[in-house]
Amino acid sequence: MTDYELLVGQAKEMLEAEPWYAASLSNISALVMEMLPELNWAGFYLMRNGKLTVGPFQGKPACIHIAPGKGVCGTALVRNETLVVPDVHQFPGHIACDGASESEIVIPLHEGAEVRAVLDIDSPVKNRFSPEDRQGLEKLARIIEEKVSWQ
Ligand code: SME
Repeated sequence: MTDYELLVGQAKEMLEAEPWYAASLSNISALVMEMLPELNWAGFYLMRNGKLTVGPFQGKPACIHIAPGKGVCGTALVRNETLVVPDVHQFPGHIACDGASESEIVIPLHEGAEVRAVLDIDSPVKNRFSPEDRQGLEKLARIIEEKVSWQ
């Protein structure tokens, strides 16, 4: 079980040391990969020119652009809510960047009222993300929103 208090505390320190998104989100994606067992991809898609564009991440090279409404990421974006997908093969329109992915969680990150990015985490294990993982990762999302600089 991941110690989310520790994870969120370390993320906060990283954001306070350097809020610039390219630096802070790179280290936070590495932190998530390190502290959550059984992941194959962890990172961020950023809103740019009206679509999600791949940002800092850990894992295999991924799809570069995702249109709003497409895949798990684009659906979480337009619904503006966390999506926990226990079996990606059952999610209509799932985009398979890494064929190893079996389950996924996507959490929108806001700048003011707008969704500015999504945190996307994939696992090679079905049903990997519990309600406790969702709660811990949503706390991580809130500290990022509070501290990150998108410029
Ligand atoms: N599976 C995602 C695409 C991004 S990769 O998982 C890194 C989706 O369906 O939106």
